[in-house]
Amino acid sequence: MRMDASLEERQQQGRRDELASLLKQVDACRRCPIGSTRTKVVCGVGNPNSPLMIVGEGPGENEDQKGEPFVGRAGELLTKMLAAIGLRREDVFITNTIKCRATMSEGGRVANRAPSPDEMSNCREYLDRELAIVKPRVILALGAPAAKSFLGRDFSITRQRGIWYAGPNGTDLIVTFHPAYILRQTGGEINAVKKLVWSDLLAVRAKLDECAAAKDETSQEESEGDVPTALSFDFQ
Ligand code: URA
Repeated sequence: MRMDASLEERQQQGRRDELASLLKQVDACRRCPIGSTRTKVVCGVGNPNSPLMIVGEGPGENEDQKGEPFVGRAGELLTKMLAAIGLRREDVFITNTIKCRATMSEGGRVANRAPSPDEMSNCREYLDRELAIVKPRVILALGAPAAKSFLGRDFSITRQRGIWYAGPNGTDLIVTFHPAYILRQTGGEINAVKKLVWSDLLAVRAKLDECAAAKDETSQEESEGDVPTALSFDFQ
């Protein structure tokens, strides 16, 4: 049956409460040395009832300062990518494989680095908890580290992006290039990469529409006279 508004609000609040208590747990975590060097932990944000979860690599400098994923330049591009398929940032749930900024010293300054396998495995429990709370229908992994965390270390982003996989608990999972990688492209490479990313985004849009239609069909069968709307994202 189509969920009524107050039930959905209560479900959303329940999920927000669970995410808030997860945030407290992650905030107290010191499993990795970066747990002591970070400014703020960066857990997932967005709509906890969203059918789409976006999983990036890990927080950078801006995210570390703000305690929110994808708020720097890569985040701005991600927001544009979502808008291109008719999604607002606040419609989706955005998180990372690790919740603390991974840093290294480079030329005397602190720079971002890719998460280590140990950091990813220490943090996996928290990503799994987010998945269990939000229960997305679709996971979009951004970049090779996020893809490898789900699909194994042999995953090749150039050969295997844009393909549907069975992710955690069988959730549909697809990989595209990380927005920071897109921003690093120059010359003719930009359009080539953008074209690939665009086709991946369209695949996500189509999958979400498919999920919404399937949900609506079930609702229609279960509830006579209840007219479902296409592209609704309130179907958890
Ligand atoms: N890159 C990521 O992978 N995650 C962020 O939150 C920001 C940049």
